[in-house]
Amino acid sequence: MFQQADSPTVSTRKVHAIFFSPARSTKKIVEAIASGISEEFIVHDITQGLFKNIELTSNDIAVVGVPAFSGQVPAIAAQYISQIKGNGARAIITCAYGNCHYENTLSELSNICVEAGFIPISSGAFVSRHSLFPELGKGRPDARDLDNARQFGKKSVQHSRIMNGGAFKLEEKSSMRPQGIVPLVAKANGDCNFCGRCVQACPVGAIDTQNPKKTDKKACISCTRCIDVCPYGARQFSGLMYLITKKRLMDKNKERKEIEVNIPL
Ligand SMILES: Cc1cc2nc3c(=O)[nH]c(=O)nc-3n(C[C@H](O)[C@H](O)[C@H](O)COP(=O)(O)O)c2cc1C
Ligand code: SF4
Ligand code: SF4
Repeated sequence: MFQQADSPTVSTRKVHAIFFSPARSTKKIVEAIASGISEEFIVHDITQGLFKNIELTSNDIAVVGVPAFSGQVPAIAAQYISQIKGNGARAIITCAYGNCHYENTLSELSNICVEAGFIPISSGAFVSRHSLFPELGKGRPDARDLDNARQFGKKSVQHSRIMNGGAFKLEEKSSMRPQGIVPLVAKANGDCNFCGRCVQACPVGAIDTQNPKKTDKKACISCTRCIDVCPYGARQFSGLMYLITKKRLMDKNKERKEIEVNIPL
């Protein structure tokens, strides 16, 4: 039986924050949700892989989060999450997206978590700064978003479904399609001082170890981690296609979107 948050045996339950988060917005959201459940939680940053086996128990609760990449779970994140052993732990399914659309990200993540042995209990989509086009979702998640995230975590575990051990299934929003490829590759400019941080941080090893100005276009998944970690702001996207896509997305997604949560009754 799953224990209530104020139950005397709560210490047997561990709270896990599991996320793939190249530009660190998903991390902020997942950690805020986890902090709404417990002051103490175990952090599993899987952005650069699983460095050790992650195995949970049926007493545990996990907040599992990924960013929406072209409305889907990033393929590499799906691969890592599939290797986790959920063992019946309850899971709060979460995604961060850049104020455009998350489409099937949550339903896909939910299915991946079920395959990995988790029991999904709720889901939430949160807006965050668009890592490719940072003017979209600028300043998000803000204080209101993070407070909502904490409340969502708290309410998810308080919900009677958890006590009954009930799971739920998320409906797919649109038909599943093959993982899209974003044809954008970040490049280093003249401000690069060859510190090598981006080389170490790239989740797929796409940046040349000897010359960080060289990126393997085929390997790059456009995740923006290298831009995020560069202390000199030396990596960026450029080119006509980038500017056209940015304008199109900004014109279409001007309005602030709010969080969407699903805690089934
Ligand atoms: C390759 C790629 C594809 C993206 N696709 C979408 C999308 O389809 N819809 C959207 O709203 N945001 C999209 N985004 C924005 C991210 O979902 C958003 O910035 C998220 O917060 C990134 O998470 P992170 O900061 O943890 O890396 C995309 C970002 C990247 C890098
Ligand atoms: S992190 Fe920035 S400065 Fe350092 S090697 Fe990469 S691009 Fe160059
Ligand atoms: S080179 Fe590509 S895959 Fe590597 S961190 Fe940069 S954007 Fe991500």
